Amino acid sequence: MMASDCTALIIFGVTGDLARKKIFGVLYDLAVLGRPDMAVIGVGRSQWSREKLRTVASEAIRAAHDEPGALDEALLATVLNRLDYVQGAYDSPDLYRALAWSAHGHTQVLCYLAVPPTVFATIVERLAETDLAPCVRLLIEKPFGSDLASARALKARIDTHFDESQTFAVDHYLEKESLQNLMVLRFANRWLEPAWNAGHIESVSVTMAENFGIEGRAGFFDSNGTLRDVVQNHGLQIVTALAMEPPASASADDVNDRRSQLLGAVATLKPDEVVFGQYDGYRDVDGVNQDSNTETYVRARLRIDNDRWRGVAWTLIAGKALAETSTEIVVKFRAASAPSFIAEDCQPEANCLRITMAPVEAVALTLQARSASLALGTAAAKLVTDGGYRSSERADAYARLFDDARRGDHTGFARADVVEQSWRVINDLIDRTQPPTIYPQGSWGPTNQAGSGKGQ
Ligand code: BG6
Repeated sequence: MMASDCTALIIFGVTGDLARKKIFGVLYDLAVLGRPDMAVIGVGRSQWSREKLRTVASEAIRAAHDEPGALDEALLATVLNRLDYVQGAYDSPDLYRALAWSAHGHTQVLCYLAVPPTVFATIVERLAETDLAPCVRLLIEKPFGSDLASARALKARIDTHFDESQTFAVDHYLEKESLQNLMVLRFANRWLEPAWNAGHIESVSVTMAENFGIEGRAGFFDSNGTLRDVVQNHGLQIVTALAMEPPASASADDVNDRRSQLLGAVATLKPDEVVFGQYDGYRDVDGVNQDSNTETYVRARLRIDNDRWRGVAWTLIAGKALAETSTEIVVKFRAASAPSFIAEDCQPEANCLRITMAPVEAVALTLQARSASLALGTAAAKLVTDGGYRSSERADAYARLFDDARRGDHTGFARADVVEQSWRVINDLIDRTQPPTIYPQGSWGPTNQAGSGKGQ
């Protein structure tokens, strides 16, 4: 490859599911956004050729942009022509020699690690031995480690070779506009901000539901489970965006200070505060251990021990093979004290704010209005945003995170103390011995004393 004065993106694990589902489409989006030419080097253990990579990428990009007229064929050809493939085992010195040759001359080498967490450290250490090291920016996919101790150990190993400014812990939820929007909703509405605390709010629930299973991802999923896959990272980051204090500025340090502070106040989860479920049929999925106790559903009751949130019931639900695919937040306010002029049998219900993050962004607020009764009573009336008020995000979270890493902006990435705090929150659950409760596919998960279903 010719030396050039620009960025190379090396994707470790390019033959995997994430690249196919997400990353190839994003490479095209980045080109649409007019980002500088990036040489893209895919790395995998499979015996693929450059042509095979380009064919797979082309299919994935077409699938991600399948509306008529959505693809510019010339741009697609440019994106595909920039793709190269290097095959090798992740611990093989030959692989890194080949990479050093391929990326030689680039002033910046983004190394995106979409590989199982068990090989992160090996890749990092091998990269450190190459001439590329000073130009490397490490983008490490979640989960960063497999528990608190391994996250700390991984961080320590990275720190011996790379400067903190070169490390980016990926949690694509931090780069979602729908998550960033939570901070805008909270702080840019005069009436909402003063009520955003335990004095006015009784409970908050966050539900991340998916109506599909883990087909094609058994290798990763069966050794990680929902707790590590989405609760430790995406779920806790939604809670953080909803609960943290306003940062002094939008700088990476100010934002991460607030994230860290909030997560530091979240009580470590105890086993009796969590329900684990597994969808019926999970153990029959190709690649899943037949006796697997891996959870595909988690329902956790969180406590945030600070002045703003003490006494508020937080619930975090995440699951696969549930009734629908949606990400929703339900904030239940405390009921208004009954005005004396309201009929006794028609007392006001609590206001409820429902924020839908996906599949479209929407907000619905349940208000109390006069009921259609003779006596002066109340009935719920709904105030809803007009359809999905933003049906699509301007740029995919992954497009934004590659671009931010290229610019050296860490705001959309979790700082090490933030990652450690979120592991601490779930750390006592990792070695649980109780088997998960089996639930039917297409349901709302296991029933339990506290009820099941979507957080209400
Ligand atoms: C990934 C998890 O990080 O996030 C997947 O590994 C999950 O299991 C996905 O499906 C959800 O992301 P999104 O952006 O589709 O909500």
